[in-house]
Amino acid sequence: MTSTPTLANTREELSGLLATARREGRRIGFVPTMGALHEGHASLMREAARHADVVVVSIFVNPMQFAPTEDLDRYPRTLPEDLEVCAANGVAVVFAPAVEEMYAGGFSHDKVRDGVTVHPGRLATILDGESRPGHFDGVLTVVAKLFGLVQPDVAVFGQKDYQQLALIRAMVRDLCLPVEVVGAETVREPDGLALSSRNRYLDPEQRRAATVLSRALRAARERATYGVPAARWAAMSVLKSEPLVELDYLALTGTDLGEAPENGEGRILVAARLGSTRLIDNMPILFTTPAERSA
Ligand code: PAF
Repeated sequence: MTSTPTLANTREELSGLLATARREGRRIGFVPTMGALHEGHASLMREAARHADVVVVSIFVNPMQFAPTEDLDRYPRTLPEDLEVCAANGVAVVFAPAVEEMYAGGFSHDKVRDGVTVHPGRLATILDGESRPGHFDGVLTVVAKLFGLVQPDVAVFGQKDYQQLALIRAMVRDLCLPVEVVGAETVREPDGLALSSRNRYLDPEQRRAATVLSRALRAARERATYGVPAARWAAMSVLKSEPLVELDYLALTGTDLGEAPENGEGRILVAARLGSTRLIDNMPILFTTPAERSA
């Protein structure tokens, strides 16, 4: 379905566009993004359409979730192409605010620390939060603002950012926000690489090497019937076979990102650098102990 979405750049334009839908009691579905949209985002839009009557997409490269040393300036900004992706996937409204619209008077890390922000708690201090301190404060703060502006009935996030999804669910639960959160499956290239806006930074050699992440996760899943250490060992041996990859973390956890169970469902997560590009990936994993296996 292709129909040009309406573009709102300001809060007023956005609320004007959504007023009728709200008055008519139509369900609003929301997909927050930072643009550079790809098939992964398109699948989130289609998922939102399954839960709502009107789909809103935000495109905003949120400075608060980038540390001063990170890739904010080089993050791809591709609004015309993004609008085409939205048009092809049934989006009614695209909200693409300027920084000043989201952070009154412009953004600086010092200024924002003086204001009210969302503190994400202990879950944001592990994994990506340990490697990127403050990152999830930025994510949750902007998502809370966007929820306030869009007031969606349902919001869709990718499982590719599994820790982000867990934290957004926790924020909605702990702050009693009236929105249903849906986690959508990761979309992959045919060779297994999870789609990411950052994949476009990879040179051909790095792009080839990047498949090692999903190969390592799959190797661990195959060994998970031998327990957590065996699964970890399997993933590590695949990761070590690729010299271009600098591992940040490999974590085997429960589905809540706590300790991995001996038996039952868990998650395996990886983050690594290829040159200056940092990629993450994760998959579900089912652990069983030898006793459980022979039972
Ligand atoms: O996942 C993203 O693209 C971003 O972290 C989000 C949720 C749009 C917040 O800026």
